[in-house]
Amino acid sequence: MQVALLPRSSIAKKALMAVTGAVWIGYLALHMWGNIHIFQGQSEFNHYAEFLREVGEPVFSYAQVLWIIRIVIGLSLVVHMVSAWDLYQQARHARTSNYAVKRVVQANYASRFMRIGGVVIILFVIFHLAQFTWVALPETALTPRVNPYANVVIGFSNPVTVLFYLLALASLSLHLFHGVWSMFQTLGFNSRRFDGLFRGLAVLTALVIPLGFATVPLAVMFGFLR
Ligand code: HEM
Repeated sequence: MQVALLPRSSIAKKALMAVTGAVWIGYLALHMWGNIHIFQGQSEFNHYAEFLREVGEPVFSYAQVLWIIRIVIGLSLVVHMVSAWDLYQQARHARTSNYAVKRVVQANYASRFMRIGGVVIILFVIFHLAQFTWVALPETALTPRVNPYANVVIGFSNPVTVLFYLLALASLSLHLFHGVWSMFQTLGFNSRRFDGLFRGLAVLTALVIPLGFATVPLAVMFGFLR
């Protein structure tokens, strides 16, 4: 079943995936960079979390910019996932014979991995929102909402949570690598001459963002943040 609201052409769906993926990369880069404030201490980090709500004042009212960002990344996530599902269905129906060429089989492995990794990431995001945004998990519910620093430290005091985060970040890394690489191909930046540059950018994104995120749970686990 294909989604009627989306364009029919697979190129247009891939372009939608590239643009919505780029929105998420921008968000993740800023979120990761913002998280690093935690190394400046509790009051700086909590101040930063409050700033996220006050940003844009007085032109925008309290938390309005934050809500605009939430709507943009929420819609981008939905369009990204629905386009991926649609492309998958389209490819499944178009497939009439078994693969004869090795490269096609490899591409099929990569896209299967993207689907599985995508599911891991979405499950992670739901858990993550429950933990830090909705403050709905038993271990964080006791901490006042106004103290994100304490929520982070308490949250990562559980080694199982840290392990889950690291697994999710590993999935994110592979997803970013293949995603960024495909994004350049889709947007037409695929001249052989610049292949090395685009591959390098894909590797850089896949390393810097997840490793930057991983510093926080690891710092709590090893007692640098308490
Ligand atoms: C592992 C390190 C991470 C830490 C320590 C962290 C920390 C946080 C915190 C404290 C909040 C709540 C901010 C607030 O309400 O003041 C938050 C929100 C959020 N995080 Fe993360 N995060 C991490 C990784 C990620 C990753 C990898 C993703 C996505 C794949 C992500 C996506 C989000 C989203 C979508 C929100 C909701 C933003 C909002 O609506 O306010 N985070 N994060």
